[in-house]
Amino acid sequence: MKFKNFTSINDLDKEGIDFVFREADNMLKLLENKKPSNICRNKILATLFFEPSTRTRLSFECAMHRLGGSVIGFADANTSSEKKGESLFDTIRTVESYCDVIAIRSPFEGASKLAMQNSSVPIINAGDGGHEHPTQTLLDLYTIKKNKNRLSNLKIGLCGDLKFGRTAHSLAQALSDYDNNILVCISPDELQFPEGIKNKLEEKGTKILQTKNLKEAMGELDVLYMTRIQKERFVSEKEYLKLKGIYVVDKEMLSGAKQDFILMHPLPRVDEINPEVDEDKRSIYFKQAFYGIPIRMALLSIMTRG
Ligand code: CP
Repeated sequence: MKFKNFTSINDLDKEGIDFVFREADNMLKLLENKKPSNICRNKILATLFFEPSTRTRLSFECAMHRLGGSVIGFADANTSSEKKGESLFDTIRTVESYCDVIAIRSPFEGASKLAMQNSSVPIINAGDGGHEHPTQTLLDLYTIKKNKNRLSNLKIGLCGDLKFGRTAHSLAQALSDYDNNILVCISPDELQFPEGIKNKLEEKGTKILQTKNLKEAMGELDVLYMTRIQKERFVSEKEYLKLKGIYVVDKEMLSGAKQDFILMHPLPRVDEINPEVDEDKRSIYFKQAFYGIPIRMALLSIMTRG
């Protein structure tokens, strides 16, 4: 199997996701055995990040280095020619001739699709505004599979900023493709899923429960996917401050969860998970972040194959 671009989680069906997971398992073995790899020798990844990132950018870079390839990019969009007024179209038409694959993060929804339409090399969406973050979803699903041995028959809480949280948008859509999952959407009225996402989930016949009360939901859940309130997407600081800190998982909250429950977070966190629960065996968000490496190694390997 091969696919050229990856701009939405809907680009992959369950078979495609399984294929990426098999590749990621092979990558995990390479990492565990500390074996050097030349799978992407002579290949260059360009990272075009027009928004801040720690995990996504560095794990893409790490993945390409682990595969024997190279990386070009700018660490700060303020040092790119976008600052001088260059269009995304011109940036892509230039950078495509410097590399073999591009990972792009942009504050604008649909930026990766626009890039894909104008690029001769594969485009990977590394997050586009409040829309989607499909590579994060692959590592989220991989983390759930590794911990629960299944992606179906799960009750999954999605908590926090479901309006602007692109990781939750992509994950909810992916989980809807697996049998008998129940999504428990935990958010205040202001931060519920946008209508477009709700409609897509309804079209798939997803079972959705809506609540504002995390504590009440906690004991029923197999997985809780916490998300940060996305300060940068609010129209004003005042509106953000009204909702900041609305949900916090601390020791007391976690005491209400099942023993085989898992607590996930795409990170970065602000205040929604108290560090006092980091050492609880059910807190798996740093392992989740690590899985970004084998998953992105798998994607780079697949997408740069001749
Ligand atoms: N999960 C995630 O996208 O993190 P970064 O913003 O640090 O890349």
